Amino acid sequence: MLADFEQSNIDLKHLANYGYIIKAIKGDELFTDIKIDSNYLSKLESQLTLFAESQKITKPLIQRRNGIIKHLRKILTNKFTNSKLSSFGSFESGLSLSNGDIDLCLEFDGESPKKVLNKIARMLNQDSMKNVKLITNAKVPIVKFIDSQSMIPVDISVNNSLSVYNTELLRRYCDVDPRVKPFILAIKYWARNRGVCEPTSGTFSSYAWTLIAINALQTMQDPVIPNLCTRDGTNVVEIDGKKYDVSMQDISKSKFVSKNNETVAELIMSFFSNLATNWPWNDFVISVREGSLITRKAKNWVHQKPKISNAIQDKKIMRLGKHSLPVEDPFDEIHDLSIVLDAEGVFEIRDEVLRAYSMLNESKNWETICEIKYPELVPESPQLDLFGDLRNMSESEIKTDLENLYSQLNIVEKSVSVRESERNDAIRMSKALRRNAELAKEQSVLSSELRPRRSQIDDAQSKRDSSNNNYIPVHLIEDELQRAYHNLTKQSETGIELSFEKEKALFSWFFELQSMHVHAKITREYHREFLRLVNKQEKSIEHIKDIKQEIVDVKSLGNFTEFDDLAKRLLIELNPLKKERRKLRREVGRLEAWLRKQKHTPSKKHKNRKSRTSRRKNDTNVKEIKNKVISGDSFSLQDLDLLLKNGGITSVNNQSSNNKQSNNQKTKKNKPTLQPHRGKRGKSSKNT
Ligand code: UTP
Repeated sequence: MLADFEQSNIDLKHLANYGYIIKAIKGDELFTDIKIDSNYLSKLESQLTLFAESQKITKPLIQRRNGIIKHLRKILTNKFTNSKLSSFGSFESGLSLSNGDIDLCLEFDGESPKKVLNKIARMLNQDSMKNVKLITNAKVPIVKFIDSQSMIPVDISVNNSLSVYNTELLRRYCDVDPRVKPFILAIKYWARNRGVCEPTSGTFSSYAWTLIAINALQTMQDPVIPNLCTRDGTNVVEIDGKKYDVSMQDISKSKFVSKNNETVAELIMSFFSNLATNWPWNDFVISVREGSLITRKAKNWVHQKPKISNAIQDKKIMRLGKHSLPVEDPFDEIHDLSIVLDAEGVFEIRDEVLRAYSMLNESKNWETICEIKYPELVPESPQLDLFGDLRNMSESEIKTDLENLYSQLNIVEKSVSVRESERNDAIRMSKALRRNAELAKEQSVLSSELRPRRSQIDDAQSKRDSSNNNYIPVHLIEDELQRAYHNLTKQSETGIELSFEKEKALFSWFFELQSMHVHAKITREYHREFLRLVNKQEKSIEHIKDIKQEIVDVKSLGNFTEFDDLAKRLLIELNPLKKERRKLRREVGRLEAWLRKQKHTPSKKHKNRKSRTSRRKNDTNVKEIKNKVISGDSFSLQDLDLLLKNGGITSVNNQSSNNKQSNNQKTKKNKPTLQPHRGKRGKSSKNT
């Protein structure tokens, strides 16, 4: 059965890149006349067994991955207080290819995930990680990068807690039947090598292919695995205010027994045969949650416009409508993993499915079927032997290299330090000039206020004086008013009433006092305003005097913006230099570690036997050599040898930064270690 988009009238000129689709549309017999050759199936089974063997995650790879996680945990939890870094994805589910990535989730509540990812990307860049990319338009935003030492790819997301549960589900599926893991790995390997496992390029994610593969095993005529999602509410988690039923069956308690006895090769054959001839997405949604295919109608996931066939013919259509090839997330039932697909991605997937199916029918071997299509999309193999390139080099060659590295490092150290001090000066100057500018502005504002305020003062003064030249304080008038009122209203003790004349005089005094009271109050207000203005004026004058004293005479040096620009320019120059310094330090550390490893450090017993004088002499020589390194003077191979025996370049850096290091610390630093250090990568990022 053709895919629905192949059935519509597409102009074949748009399908030039999809040869197998064209063949299918034309009814090629490769897809109709199937011969299953049992000989070929048993050969394919051996090839798949060898393939699964080749994908085994070795102990050194686990150690390397754990080392990266440990390093990242240290720098991230240091930067984001109270955060937690956990690992999920194929590394945890056991479904990792040998060059698979590490998926990490940082749980942190302090800031928005996008902000946090931005900071992480900056830190990783400073930490000299490779290809650091911030992908913020995905459902779960991530930072992608490659560990520069091991070339292992890493994805970091923030608060992506649901993934921990779906990882556990995948792990449990692997435990159900020994065929599950090699089967899924084979599908993932094929998808990745054929370029149809890259969500950023419009094809399915590795996780989506895993679900498609699991669903295929659930829906075979005789299912290989059961449905482990119980959805019985025994484990409901709340993430970002949303509840998810993540209940899943305990395998040990499962009564499921598969009647399917097919080999992995037969399962692979069925998988591609089904996808090629029974394109499920015409009518169905792939649902691991239901353990079956559910109809688009039942899920209410009909394919919205723009449709695939229209989008492939019209280059202006950039996005597909929702639910193009729907794959339901097992725990987040509204998440359709086909959201990432574009029209070309869908055609590529379909074309590759048909290719794989036709190649199986032509009895092609597994590696040919999985031939790498886009090398740039396939991660490099992890580099586990950090000393691989040094193993065939002689000690003196390595020492010469090391000597070159020391002098390169010296030059870079000096350039960094010069630029750093220039930058600090520029920042200081900018600050001083900025302060000057602020002060000058303040002074001009204050000065411009003096004259108008002087006229306000004169005005308040003349109003006060003209209102009542013989200013009597308000409280005295109020006392007198009270007294007059009392005299007018008191009961006579002698029984003799006030004479009319006296009463008249008292009333007239009372009214006069009242009028005076009104005047005195107005005068008081003018007086207060006058005092307030005088006070303010005095303060402004004082302040202007202070400002004049504070302003530094640096005007001739220019504007603060020039120094800001200089500081920015220096920072731009500093970043690559610091990166270079970190790279050189790391390489120096690696070479030193290798030489230490080769030298076989003398036992403590032997060391202790050394005479005190010879040790003291040795110490003096080492000090001299370290001084030579710090000052950039040349030194001999013997010097280098002695330096290596006494802590290497790291101890030089320590000496230059802190000459007064305690003896205790020195002994600790000089202890030989056989592992190269990851160094202090990432520490500086704390200041960003
Ligand atoms: P990947 O697509 O990287 O899958 O998603 P993977 O299984 O780790 O495969 P490789 O080894 O990289 O090729 C990593 C994890 O991210 C979560 C899943 O937990 C998945 O295991 N994830 C991914 C989601 O929850 N939803 C998605 O849409 C994609």
